[in-house]
Amino acid sequence: MTSAVDEARLQAQFEATVAHKDRIEPRDWMPEAYRKTVVRQVAQHAHSEIIGMQPEGDWIGRAPSLRRKAILLAKVQDEAGHGLYLYSATETLGVSRDELTERLITGAQKYSSIFNYPTLSYADVGTIGWLVDGAAICNQVPLCRTSYGPYGRAMIRICKEESFHQRQGYELLMTMMRGTDEQRAMVQESVDRFWWPSLMMFGPPDDASPNTAQSMAWGIKTHTNDELRQRFVDMTVPQAVALWVTLPDPELRWNEERGAHDFGQPDWDEFWSVVKGDGPCNAQRIAHRKKAWDDGAWVREAAMAFADKQSSQSEEATA
Ligand SMILES: [Fe+2]
Ligand SMILES: [Fe+2]
Repeated sequence: MTSAVDEARLQAQFEATVAHKDRIEPRDWMPEAYRKTVVRQVAQHAHSEIIGMQPEGDWIGRAPSLRRKAILLAKVQDEAGHGLYLYSATETLGVSRDELTERLITGAQKYSSIFNYPTLSYADVGTIGWLVDGAAICNQVPLCRTSYGPYGRAMIRICKEESFHQRQGYELLMTMMRGTDEQRAMVQESVDRFWWPSLMMFGPPDDASPNTAQSMAWGIKTHTNDELRQRFVDMTVPQAVALWVTLPDPELRWNEERGAHDFGQPDWDEFWSVVKGDGPCNAQRIAHRKKAWDDGAWVREAAMAFADKQSSQSEEATA
């Protein structure tokens, strides 16, 4: 049991660590609300990586060439790896992957709204790489310096792979834009569908994001949603120009005074309805994840039985 005096000392130590931008590590004392917030954010991130395999995974069997298939397979596998690093980071806070998967399947925890949109053409593989992985990079690069150690270190590794994802998407779109009129039209149609949902990936506007202030005070988040959204727009506009695609926002223009782009707001009613479960693919994504989890039950059971057998054998050997 810790006394009130100990508790105050531990709290002060925790705050000093955060203020110095040092890391909080798994064995360090931390306020219960901090632990909960990190678990919620990292779990939501892990779920997004795992659910995010589905929209692109739909195209693996229909890739137009062996080269495109190899690239897409590797990319989707990377996302599985990202999910696993992140579930491991939450395990350091005492929450198992089984528990988190349960919370995902029952809808108690969310994942990024972007993955509830369908992929209707192969150009979507390129657009997801360019815009969705591009937005993910804007969100995640600052998280390499997040206050919780295992999360920050996972992000360093993940960001390196995300930048490859972004480039493969851009390269695919560039190849299509050099192709036929039909291919160029496919790219534009895909960008038209994904632009607004990509802006929504940064979350609601700052004045509708009640958790941001506390997360920033704890060093879990380092920038607000609107700051990151602005950074993404400023990064993406010149890439769109080089690609010869139009971003579907009539309000998008350079603002000389601010040294940044002005742009329109996504349809926030649509965002909230997708977050609440009413997006075009929410039910399908969860049903697919649940089926994969149920189908894999025997593998988990066999792995546990094997591990038990191994440990009883090594106990016998040392007895
Ligand atoms: Fe990822
Ligand atoms: Fe990615």
